[in-house]
Amino acid sequence: MATRTVQTVRAGENNAKQRASTSARNSAVDTVRNPATDLAPATPRPASYLAEFAADVRASLTKQPQRELPSKYLYDELGSALFEAICVLPEYGLTRADARLLQRHARDIVDALDSPVQVAELGSGSGKKTRWILEALARRQRTYYYPIEISPSALAACEKEMGQIELVSVVGYEKTYLDGLRAVATRRDTQDNLLVLFLGSSIGNFDRGAGDEFLREVRKTLRHGDALLLGTDLVKDAATQILAYDDPTGVTAAFDLNMLARINRELGGNFVLSQFRHQARWNDAERRIEMHLVARSLQEIHIPRANLRITLEPGESIWTESSHKYVTSEIDDMARRTGFQCIDQWVDAQWPFAQNLFLAE
Ligand SMILES: C[S@@+](CC[C@H](N)C(=O)[O-])C[C@H]1O[C@@H](n2cnc3c(N)ncnc32)[C@H](O)[C@@H]1O
Repeated sequence: MATRTVQTVRAGENNAKQRASTSARNSAVDTVRNPATDLAPATPRPASYLAEFAADVRASLTKQPQRELPSKYLYDELGSALFEAICVLPEYGLTRADARLLQRHARDIVDALDSPVQVAELGSGSGKKTRWILEALARRQRTYYYPIEISPSALAACEKEMGQIELVSVVGYEKTYLDGLRAVATRRDTQDNLLVLFLGSSIGNFDRGAGDEFLREVRKTLRHGDALLLGTDLVKDAATQILAYDDPTGVTAAFDLNMLARINRELGGNFVLSQFRHQARWNDAERRIEMHLVARSLQEIHIPRANLRITLEPGESIWTESSHKYVTSEIDDMARRTGFQCIDQWVDAQWPFAQNLFLAE
């Protein structure tokens, strides 16, 4: 049995990879934290982080004609725990479809790439589904896995679980998607190919134009021979899609409402959660689910740390998340437009969801 070691590397300690690879152990966990966002649970938020959160809340809540909140703020410790619960809801088939495809095709995916391959994952969450890819790679080589996450609790869970896999070393990055990916790309050796995972249809959280722009930025950090595995949830009937984002047990509603609770906790806001209801809307023209928090009555909102006062009319909503849906035939074009070639696509038989393997052109 291999000895397992858990190690945390903070900013300034940049030799984690070397130490992990030269030690005798077979698995390792390191974390590269951003000092500006070192948000271990129960640690007060640093001033710079709170200033950015406050500025984002202020800018998005004052948008007209539609007030918004950025979906990335759904994921504090409670939000990440609620997202894990969403993943096992009977109505939310997306995660199970994603997992089935990864389990079934992990070998095909890694066989498409030349060794040595290192793996970076954008918004890993707990990373549970990624096990199939890491195990398939570890059968042929020692593998470095770089989960990139803004949620400290999700990153910690991911590091703990993936750090158990033989011949896999985990180096976590508590950063935003592109900052994390750039950091990973600069530390890799010249012979390493990079497989970037963007699973669970997180691409769907971007508006379509912004999604293309994001994929182009991802492509800029990659070299010829690198790959991107992109999950895309496919269009299905509206009732099924709405239920997936508004389950009868109210877990998704709690996930959504927690954004307001987070603003109360961290920015001193006065949202009364019982005066808002979660709503999932299917926007047919844009082919997306929109999550909204709708005021049940007139609300005078004060958020002192964002220096913000607003009035919400009864029935007025705050748009908190989009989840765009795709058709398989548009994926090839999406790859071409953003500097990739889609070399393979697998579609789940039970829940319309596609796993797409893009090669950097
Ligand atoms: C919808 S969850 C998906 C988690 C996992 N990939 C899956 O498929 O189950 C999105 C994850 O990305 C993280 N996230 C959201 N926006 C991010 C950003 N801009 N940079 C880094 N991580 C982000 C969240 O904290 C969350 O864990």
